[in-house]
Amino acid sequence: MTDIALNPKDLDYIRDMVRTRAAIVLEPEKGYLVQSRLDPVAKSEGLASIGELVTKLKKGPHGELHKQVVEAMTTNETSFFRDLTPFQALREQVLPEIIARKATSKRLNMWCGASSSGQEPYSVMFTIWEHFPELKNWNFQFFATDLSEKMLEKCRNGKYSQLEVNRGLPITSLTKFFAKKGMGWQVQDDIRGRIDFKPMNLIGPWLPFPTMDIVFLRNVMIYFDMDTKKQILENIRKILDPNGYLFLGGSETTLNLDNEFERVAVSGTSCYRVKKG
Ligand SMILES: C[S@@+](CC[C@H](N)C(=O)[O-])C[C@H]1O[C@@H](n2cnc3c(N)ncnc32)[C@H](O)[C@@H]1O
Repeated sequence: MTDIALNPKDLDYIRDMVRTRAAIVLEPEKGYLVQSRLDPVAKSEGLASIGELVTKLKKGPHGELHKQVVEAMTTNETSFFRDLTPFQALREQVLPEIIARKATSKRLNMWCGASSSGQEPYSVMFTIWEHFPELKNWNFQFFATDLSEKMLEKCRNGKYSQLEVNRGLPITSLTKFFAKKGMGWQVQDDIRGRIDFKPMNLIGPWLPFPTMDIVFLRNVMIYFDMDTKKQILENIRKILDPNGYLFLGGSETTLNLDNEFERVAVSGTSCYRVKKG
């Protein structure tokens, strides 16, 4: 860590930049977080302090360094089968219902927004491969997006350390869906190849998505203000099939943000659907 304390004006500059470029709200008392996340960035640029980093950011045109700083301020915490119940809901209710309803078209579209390092979309794939192998022959598109290029690179590689696979991955999934690679593990090619990993900022232009049957947007809206959450939920409604399902994180909700969604109980958890009529 650099010795020089973070100046309040520099902190405000970073807070503003992160909010404008990623919608992430950093409270003024999060100086310690900015310091710990940006010290390595300053160091890698050969700068002695975050003050010097801010000076460089102010001088230069918005480019790679700005992107690096915003990415460093994102929280990428995730794990395989995080919270368990959404994946149980997919297995017990959501996928059987969609498979029955779409038996003729055999078309399934899914999107995992804020996929971080990939554990979440891969957990969805493992659920499908293990319990609904018939979907392998469906026309299915699975998009996984994140703001962070660094995270997307990790998603595409599908390589995880022993510590990462120890977090939430059942041993049966490890033996079925991974190959040992050096000290770690890599998701098998046929599974990696079925997910379309793409960069997308939730407050930027959205990709031209097809109509979605299932949307996972978990543990990212917690970082945003009310207006941003409302806008994102409205955008989701535009791409979600009227019979589709939206999964949010355990501490997230559409309540008091978007009245056109309703919360429905599925397999010991809840998800959100667009109200009928
Ligand atoms: C805490 S992780 C959530 C990962 C996963 N969804 C889960 O629940 O385990 C939050 C992710 O949101 C991404 N993120 C933050 N702001 C974003 C934005 N404006 N647009 C797209 N992704 C964003 C971060 O890069 C990070 O990978």
